Amino acid sequence: MKIEGFKYHGTNQAFYATYKDGAWDEGVMSDSIFFEISSVAVALQYGQSVFEGLKAYRTKNNDVLLFRPDANAKRLKGSCERLLIPPVPEELFIKAIKQVVDANRDLVPSYESKGSLYIRPFVIGTETVMGVRSANEFLFGVIATPVGSYFKDGFNPISLTTTPYDRAAPNGLGHVKTGANYAASLYPKHLAKQKGFDDCLYLDPKTHTKVDETGATNIIAITKDNQFVTPQSKSILPSITNQSLQMIAKKYLGMDVIHRDIPLHELKDFEEIGACGTAAVITPISRIHHEGEEFTFESYEKLHKLYDLLQGIQYGDVKDEFGWVIKV
Ligand code: PLP
Ligand code: COI
Repeated sequence: MKIEGFKYHGTNQAFYATYKDGAWDEGVMSDSIFFEISSVAVALQYGQSVFEGLKAYRTKNNDVLLFRPDANAKRLKGSCERLLIPPVPEELFIKAIKQVVDANRDLVPSYESKGSLYIRPFVIGTETVMGVRSANEFLFGVIATPVGSYFKDGFNPISLTTTPYDRAAPNGLGHVKTGANYAASLYPKHLAKQKGFDDCLYLDPKTHTKVDETGATNIIAITKDNQFVTPQSKSILPSITNQSLQMIAKKYLGMDVIHRDIPLHELKDFEEIGACGTAAVITPISRIHHEGEEFTFESYEKLHKLYDLLQGIQYGDVKDEFGWVIKV
């Protein structure tokens, strides 16, 4: 069965562990995505919450593969530290992910459908606290659900518009996967969609002259002379997909990978522009609108090659020479 879109399509079981008296417990599986929480939990009132996103893929031989869960564990640790949350130990994180994938194995979409099981680990401050301070009690949860494409189905281009709003502050939380950044993105995305665009493109919050990222993806840009350029910015999320694509681009396509500022006006010089992330994989961008100016892109050749190689590794069709995939 083909799973349409990036939506919640149900789950069999979820995992929950709690932090109390200075330690994480070993956690339990549950058949519910609902739990009781204090109305005055720090996560609800003051946004002390961090999360991750990763996927499990079904291969041609019916195996189920996880892609770089160790990288998500490490990023979650960084997010926890920034929000004063006791980090989830990597062993507990990996154990929880494997248990959730195992319990939801029958929900991993077929190889042919090109869908995947999206796994959403999260950590929230659950203690009842009235003044602004960190909680001393936390919940680490992992849920999973089958998903299809985040934007359009298949390898189809999207359009973006820049926005006067920011998703993050210059020295804020942009590099951290926390609810606040996504809350900040809801209204600008709504406005972009109202104007007929698929999403908005955030500029660097300090000068509003450079490309940052979208609300759910990094941006990658390809030049005519085989360079893979991606913004160097303190306010974007360090994307595991982007980091993986950089290694693929160097190894398989002999590309030069360059981290640097991308001034908006330079967009016209790029051959191809893409949005990348776990949910979006690589989505080509055909058009970027900025205050009456239009940047358009017609070629997606290199992006397509990168997409095929990345998905090839994730679905077990291309030999994983990086040690990224784990069979569950
Ligand atoms: N940027 C933002 C704001 C995101 O939410 C995501 C999604 O996780 C990404 C980039 C891509 O990161 P990753 O490739 O690790 O999924
Ligand atoms: C992901 O790609 O995993 C994301 O978290 C992006 C978005 C769905 C929030």
